[in-house]
Amino acid sequence: MNKSETAVSPEITARANTLLEQMSLAEKVGQLAQISGADFMPGPPAEEIIRQTGAGSLLWLNDTKQFNELQKIAIEESPSGIPILFALDVIHGYRTIFPVPLAMAASWDTAVPEQAQAIAAKEARAAGIHWTFGPMIDIARDARWGRIVEGAGEDPYLGSAMAVAQVRGFQGDDLADPEHMLACAKHFAGYGAADGGRDYDPVFLSEAQLRNVYLPPFQAAVDAGVATFMSAYMDLNNVPASGNRWLLRDVLREEWGFDGFIVSDAFAVGNLVIQGHAKDVRDASYRAIKAGLNMDMASSSYLQTLADLVEDGSLAVEEIDELVRPILTLKMQMGLFENPYVDETLLEKVIALPEHRAAARLAAQRSMVLLRNEDNLLPLAKDWQNVAVIGPVADSMEATEGSWMVFGHQPAAVTVLQGIRAKLPEATVTYAPGPAIRRDFPSPFEDFMPELKKPPQTPEESDAAFETAVTTAQAADLVIMVLGEEAHMAGEFASRGSLDLPGRQEELLKAVCALGKPVVLVLLNGRPLSINWASENVPAILEAWEPGTEGGNAVADILFGDVNPGGKLPVCFPRNGNHAPLYYARTLTHQPEGSPMYRSRYWDSLTTPLYPFGFGLSYTTFEISNLQLSAAKVKVGETIEVTAVVTNTGQVAGDEVVQLYTHQKWGSDSRPMRELKGFERVTLQPGESKTVTFQLGPDELRYWSTNANGWVQEAAAFDIWVGADSLATLHADFEVVD
Ligand code: BGC
Repeated sequence: MNKSETAVSPEITARANTLLEQMSLAEKVGQLAQISGADFMPGPPAEEIIRQTGAGSLLWLNDTKQFNELQKIAIEESPSGIPILFALDVIHGYRTIFPVPLAMAASWDTAVPEQAQAIAAKEARAAGIHWTFGPMIDIARDARWGRIVEGAGEDPYLGSAMAVAQVRGFQGDDLADPEHMLACAKHFAGYGAADGGRDYDPVFLSEAQLRNVYLPPFQAAVDAGVATFMSAYMDLNNVPASGNRWLLRDVLREEWGFDGFIVSDAFAVGNLVIQGHAKDVRDASYRAIKAGLNMDMASSSYLQTLADLVEDGSLAVEEIDELVRPILTLKMQMGLFENPYVDETLLEKVIALPEHRAAARLAAQRSMVLLRNEDNLLPLAKDWQNVAVIGPVADSMEATEGSWMVFGHQPAAVTVLQGIRAKLPEATVTYAPGPAIRRDFPSPFEDFMPELKKPPQTPEESDAAFETAVTTAQAADLVIMVLGEEAHMAGEFASRGSLDLPGRQEELLKAVCALGKPVVLVLLNGRPLSINWASENVPAILEAWEPGTEGGNAVADILFGDVNPGGKLPVCFPRNGNHAPLYYARTLTHQPEGSPMYRSRYWDSLTTPLYPFGFGLSYTTFEISNLQLSAAKVKVGETIEVTAVVTNTGQVAGDEVVQLYTHQKWGSDSRPMRELKGFERVTLQPGESKTVTFQLGPDELRYWSTNANGWVQEAAAFDIWVGADSLATLHADFEVVD
């Protein structure tokens, strides 16, 4: 699907206009309100609002029967009988949970998120949910920011590809398809650049940074036909994103031609007062409407004040109509008026489909990244008799499923411990969690999900758990350590100052390694971690992220060689949380790495990443060679073709992700020393070769220039590298001429 295929037909526009003419002002305001199905919103209960005026949408409810009951009130009792859009955060699966989005980006395979979100949509629709608040496509270059887990990492090119794949997955080819759902590109825009990685803190980005780095995934989502957008919470250059006319009207609607609707982030209209932008609730609504924000998520500011603002002439009714129209047209386009109810027997049938679990396992396998494998310790043979699985997340379903498992979701993941036990039915597999890990400050999610609350451990209990873990490891022949972060250590409200393994995990890792047994480290986490000691002392490290329902099976498939890992990092791994933000696509300095005076940017540590963007190992080896360009020179506007040959030079079949990076050597602005401009994940048998082809045209070679104050494609020389990560050395030059 693309933008033209989701464009509103003249018939639907006419139908929406007729409906608009019949609606009272109160009903129009109702359509601009997204009300809460949980007890989080001030004002009258949801049923009452629906009965009186109808409601554009309802969120934070996850109950099929109640969806039908509320829908019945909207249709049979509200004045115009307009059906409600039910919305929920279906971020990486509904019942079948897929790897977190950061992990799916690590697959470098757009089929992974596309299929995952198609299945998520099918399950969620069967539960009665029409609209998801995804994909989250914020570029994140600061690993301290908790929400890095929800996006595709640091790179706009990879991020745009993943954004498009997710929009396709959620929405399918036709908005009226009852097995798909409306997608929502969020959080518009710049949220990932919060100062210091502190969630919600202000963001300061130049127009060049916005246009070249943070906005491309959003524009790609518009081009892919995304139905809705969500405005972000934070101040962007001192103007809250949810009251930001430049973002919501000038860029999104006028420049990009977006014709769906925009919902605020939760309570964000009301927050305009708290953030010091609006004088009071009335002023907040006024500013949000003027900025072009269609739907007020849960703050009830619109419900409280819009009618007055129109009645006293502050806002024209036409301004309200303009914002209601796309909500009505989308409801019409998706067939909600014809099919407002959900068949309450459908969900159980849909979630039982075996292909959903198979897809989740495949997605998890393809997302995992092998970070270290000294002396080919991996893959492990399957005849180990006595295996210890150690670590606080080894048997945690929550950590395996990851963030956004809220609103009544029951965790049901195969943990790593379970996956290993299933893989080695004959072996003795012992388990000890070691000391518990906890946040210093609990997550607000714990307030409404008490099951997440973990009682604190006393120092004595922690010591005892430590001892038990070491003795359990001592008694085994092979130790698999499963360390990382619990689910609510990444995500919203989950930024950190440090990137170290939380709690006593590294201490435990050192104690276990001192036993002299073979040790494999599996990481379950939602962000890069600064695993410096492990990177030098633990022979095998598998980054498994938060891998979802089938995560434990996928880990076991990889550890024991049924699957060869081929994922690559979508983010740099910094050596220290203090190094964030850290990303590969920086501009050159006058003393670049490698120059005689260059040692490190800090005198007390290396500032290069511990693992670079694009990095990941395999159980086989690859060679990338024979870099060819279709021409040494092309004219501005022309396309150059780049080819390279990738060969599996090892003993087993495997996947390599061939990556193309460019660098414009001079121009109006300094350009990043490397920028990803193409990638392809290929599967090769031992000895097999494949030629990979990339096109570099005006879209890849242009950029938004501060000096020129606009988009430019310039006559200049370019470097090209093709290789297996962002440090690729296979190089060529070409020139763009006038
Ligand atoms: C988050 C959004 C989410 C919304 C609705 C907010 O707190 O920032 O990402 O979609 O809540 O649950």
